[in-house]
Amino acid sequence: MSQKKPATLRVLTGITPSGTPHLGNYLGAIRPSVAASLSEDTESFYFLADYHALIKTGGNPERIQRSTLEIAASWLACGLDPERVTFYRQSDIPEIPELTWLLTCVTGKGILNRAHAYKAAVDKNTAAGGEPDDGVTAGLFMYPVLMGADILMFNAHKVPVGRDQVQHLEMARDMASSFNHLYGEHFVLPEAAIEESVATLPGLDGRKMSKSYDNTIPLFASRTELRRLIASIVTDSRAPGEPKDVEGSALFQIYQAFATPEETAALRRAYAEGIAWGDAKQQLFERVDRELTPLRERYEALMAEPAKIEATLLAGASKARRLATPFTQKLRHAVGLRRLGEAAGPAKAAKAAKVANASFKQYRETDGRFYFKLVDAQGRLLLQSHAHDTPRAAGEAIAALRVQADEAALHAAGTLADGGTVAVALAALRQLADAS
Ligand code: TRP
Repeated sequence: MSQKKPATLRVLTGITPSGTPHLGNYLGAIRPSVAASLSEDTESFYFLADYHALIKTGGNPERIQRSTLEIAASWLACGLDPERVTFYRQSDIPEIPELTWLLTCVTGKGILNRAHAYKAAVDKNTAAGGEPDDGVTAGLFMYPVLMGADILMFNAHKVPVGRDQVQHLEMARDMASSFNHLYGEHFVLPEAAIEESVATLPGLDGRKMSKSYDNTIPLFASRTELRRLIASIVTDSRAPGEPKDVEGSALFQIYQAFATPEETAALRRAYAEGIAWGDAKQQLFERVDRELTPLRERYEALMAEPAKIEATLLAGASKARRLATPFTQKLRHAVGLRRLGEAAGPAKAAKAAKVANASFKQYRETDGRFYFKLVDAQGRLLLQSHAHDTPRAAGEAIAALRVQADEAALHAAGTLADGGTVAVALAALRQLADAS
């Protein structure tokens, strides 16, 4: 399939693993994304943006690892089906930092100067009378380019994000058009998809639920903890029997986010009739707990087996790289990072065709032993096997490599060609598998 025009709508979004998921994340991102991923005509990509987490949470390795585990387990517990979507960890895709560099070279520095997060840091420094760039890492400055690479790598059409990320999407479109202009039409121009119907959820203190306000309800808090947190939601001082306002009531808004319209209407009446705050809190607790209990059970089971989640993420990465590896080859060719002697001009479907025609060649050396090579369509060597005593043993080694088709299998089978990469050899193996 062409990278540029997938048959279906491609939706992609990243989640930065820098904290523990809370109810706001669940309602604003996880629940709607899982629902959308079930639609027949979309192809969804969800990933843990751990390279991004280094920018926000640098110097806290345990936190990134823990958060990656918690967020992956949360999404899976909430019904994300890794068979159906492509669910991966950003740092398992080395093509992403590579594309970041290609995009860096077509991005105006002036555009990055205007990025909100960077500008906010500069404004703060300036207001405090300091140097504009005090405490600003080049990582923070480059954040939009890394995000552009995430999106453009998979030629996503739609990118569900919060309002604060819309500017990053505009920048990704800029990068895509600059690149296309210089090197030919490689990238789709992505669009931000803002979920208008999901109002921001208030937190315990009535402000937006957010880690930075420390007013969150963790998605998978225990029942006891959930009850305690709900009891601490701010209310006004109206006594039982006094009518209460739904307007501006955090408790009511959280209830509404979980409840059906009928349930919400009933609570609205109860407010008008003067329900006691304690009773309203009990209702909210029961409603939220009813939705979360089955998810919490799955979450706890998943958290008990991190190795399983790891395997799921690695499988997701290999699925993602089936696209990213050949596409990166095409981009490298387009910008001129080419094998010497390789034809100039547009890459055409060149790369795809080459790997599709990769093959194994078996032969006997003058030492009397049996070998094979994996070569691409041009006959360029990708992998040179170890020696085998019989042709049959060499044949079996080929079969084993075709079945296992991973990095370990490559190393077990032989030696990569000089300058060749595991990625290219694996892409060739996969294409061979797909073709047969
Ligand atoms: N920057 C996003 C956030 O903070 C996370 C993210 C990283 C992302 N890469 C992305 C979102 C690509 C969408 C697409 O929320």
